[in-house]
Amino acid sequence: MKIAIGSDHAAYALKEHVKFYLESKGIKVLDKGTYSEESVDYPIFAKKVADDVVKEKVDYGILLCGTGLGMSISANKVRGAYAALCLYPTMAKYARHHNNANILVMAGRLMGPTLAEETVDVFLSTPFEGGRHTRRIDEIKEMEN
Ligand code: RB5
Repeated sequence: MKIAIGSDHAAYALKEHVKFYLESKGIKVLDKGTYSEESVDYPIFAKKVADDVVKEKVDYGILLCGTGLGMSISANKVRGAYAALCLYPTMAKYARHHNNANILVMAGRLMGPTLAEETVDVFLSTPFEGGRHTRRIDEIKEMEN
């Protein structure tokens, strides 16, 4: 499995933690920045990660900012990106089961490292359920045209 990860300054520390956590599990991680706690603009990193996801350079994306809101709004502007803000594992479970999200968004100012690890684990291990949810995803895709 390969993951593209990105954050702004507000979630840099949690991004680094999640990156090393994934690598410790043998998952390949493309770190798209940011690379320090110097203030940056989150849409730049949302686009880098979302582009890698829609071009299928990676299996999934992970984005983090202070609240997760800016990253969610930004990444969802990229056609084919389905970014879901998940503040705890149950949200991650349904983001995959029902919404077939391809980008997990987390909040560096609201989540601790253990909660982030558990949320990532659930997101990466939960399949899309299909069925009636496919119709709803297709209705979202129609809005992109
Ligand atoms: C940065 O101060 C903060 O606005 C950003 O990390 C994020 O929370 C935006 O949605």
